[in-house]
Formats: sequence, structure tokens, C-alpha cells
Amino acid sequence: MSKNVLILPGDGIGPEIVTQAKRVLELVNSQFSLDLEFTEALVGGAAIDADGVPLPASTLEAAQKADAILLGAVGGPKWDTNPDFQIRPEKGLLGIRSNLGLFGNLRPAILYPQLAHASSLKPEIVSGLDILIVRELTGGIYFGQPRGIRVKEGGIREGFNTYVYDENEIRRIGRVAFEAARQRGKKLCSVDKANVLEVTVLWREIMEEVAKDYPDVELSHMYVDNAAMQLVRAPKQFDVMVTGNMFGDILSDAAAMLTGSIGMLPSASLDVNGKGMYEPCHGSAPDIAGQGKANPLATILSVAMMLRYSLDAGEAADKIEAAVSQVLDQNLRTADIMSEGMTAVSTSQMGDAVVAALKG
Ligand code: IPM
Ligand code: MG
Repeated sequence: MSKNVLILPGDGIGPEIVTQAKRVLELVNSQFSLDLEFTEALVGGAAIDADGVPLPASTLEAAQKADAILLGAVGGPKWDTNPDFQIRPEKGLLGIRSNLGLFGNLRPAILYPQLAHASSLKPEIVSGLDILIVRELTGGIYFGQPRGIRVKEGGIREGFNTYVYDENEIRRIGRVAFEAARQRGKKLCSVDKANVLEVTVLWREIMEEVAKDYPDVELSHMYVDNAAMQLVRAPKQFDVMVTGNMFGDILSDAAAMLTGSIGMLPSASLDVNGKGMYEPCHGSAPDIAGQGKANPLATILSVAMMLRYSLDAGEAADKIEAAVSQVLDQNLRTADIMSEGMTAVSTSQMGDAVVAALKG
């Protein structure tokens, strides 16, 4: 039976990187007879311009029906000034994540040996780096109620959000992280701020409880400020890290830079059944949109994750990852990973090279 992949190009560099990733997906679709069908819909700023809202009902419905979703990126200065928060591009992305229950966000930070010199850290600190950040994606301070901006006594405006997790939310992301650690180096570091925030005192307690079911995995705890420091001091101490929505957002950007560029990092956001949305960790980069400068590899690697986690096509995923490694071996580099002696290529030339490697 055919499977449906929903493509959401979004804003900024989203459409150009998704174009390249889709070429890759179409190619492996025929090479491996995957019987995939594609539909496309609007989300984010593009949807605001066309329909007045960042997540039109038709897009949400298509997302609910799809077997997997590929998203480029959302957001841009054009929509940043709207005082109505509901009409911001980011609400489109957050709306899909929460409506589809995509609570388990996997963000692998792997250093390709070819890019050791593109990292802002010394090669010996990052060589061989292979971290997986497991970020809770549908709860925490991103979604907690109450929230808003109100006027208090004396006419003083006050902004407020609520950082809340219940034990079930913590337990289910904990299980995702322990399962992942079990498949890898069997080390899990849970990141919290249990010295200050009660919600993360509970987080720590539940992680300890879940750990009892995984005696083969070594659990440690770290405060988020220390974790940020350790990531840039000695990142190879980590195998799998698990943390809440906001800390995960921040730490995954930091981890991304260790690998040379955030332009290399894919992600998967999964529901309880393994259905998922796949997107690069970087954003819409409006400053370079439409110039052919964006690195499509994070989106292409997101396609590989999609094939592996949602479409039961691990072999096709392996082949894409090998093709990415091959184009790096050919010294092809987009601007974000450029270094001396390498050949500069555009977004579409990078796509061409991956396609050629897959055919080769
Ligand atoms: C990410 C992004 C999003 C987030 C934004 C665009 C809402 O930064 O996926 O990391 O904060 O989750
Ligand atoms: Mg982010």
C-alpha cells in the first residue's frame, strides 16, 4: 500500500532546501520501490500570507492523514511584528507538534570527520563526536498555561509563562531516551535545573524511577548551565542527553555548532506510534533566503531519518547518509561549512551532488 509524505516547505530558506531533499526522496522512492506519494501544503508565514493563519485546517488535516511529514523551516521578519501571537509562523510549527502529539524530538549531533575543521572547537575536542539530544517537544514552558502579557497594579505590564510537566509526560520522554541509549553507548544524561525549579525536581525523580527498568543504561543528572558549559568544554563525555522543551531547544543549537554547522543537523519528532515530522534543526535563515547559499544537507539527512523511523526503509536511509558523506569527501561545501581548499557549491549544486552519489 502506498504511503503518503506531506511536504511543508515553509518560509525563508525552507522551500529551497526542501526542493533538494524532495529530489533525494523521489530518487530513493524509485530506487527502492517504496511506493511513496507526496502532497504539499502551506505552513508558517507562507500560510499566513495565503490564508491568514499559520496552520490552516487543511494543512493540519493533511498532517494528520500523512504517514510522515517533511518540514523546511518557518518564520521571518515579515511576520515578527504581529502583536497577535496566534498569527506568528512559529505557531504553525508548534501547532503541528502539539496536535499530532509529536512529543519525542531526536536531535543527533554527529561530527562528520571531513568537517572537523569547520567546528569552532579544536578538532581533538570534537573528533568522533556522536551525541543524541532527546528533547521533550509538546510540553514544558512552551505550552504551559497560564501565559500571556497582562497589566498589573499601577499599570505595569508583566509577561508570564508557566513551566509545567506532569509525571506521565516526563516518564514517556524518559522511556524514549532510555530506549535510544540502550541502542547506543548506554549512557544517559538527564539535564534539569533541580537546584531552582520544582518542576525539574520532579523531572529528576521520574528519570530515576524509569531508570529502574533500564539497569543496563547508566543514568546521570546535570544542571542545564553546567551542561551548556560541558558541551563546549568536553562534549565527547555525552552519549544521549534528555531534557525538557526549552533547555533542549537551547542545548541542541549549541551541540549543532560543535559539528561544524547547524546546517548539517537533522531531527525527528515522533508520536507514541513512531509517526513523525522531520525537519532540519536550523531555522528559516531569512538573511540568506533565495540566494542559493543554504546548506540542504540537514534536510536531506532528515529525509534519511524519516525513512528509518517512519517508513521502514532503513536501507534507503543508509544509502542517503553514505551519499552525504561521499559529497563531503568530494570536498564540496556550502558557505556555512566552507574552509580553505574546498570547493564552494550552491544549494542546488549540493543537491545535484547528493543525487549523483545516490545514482553512482
Ligand atoms: C526549533 C526551533 C523552534 C523551537 C521555533 C522555530 C519555534 O527553534 O525547532 O528548535 O523553538 O522549537
Ligand atoms: Mg531551536
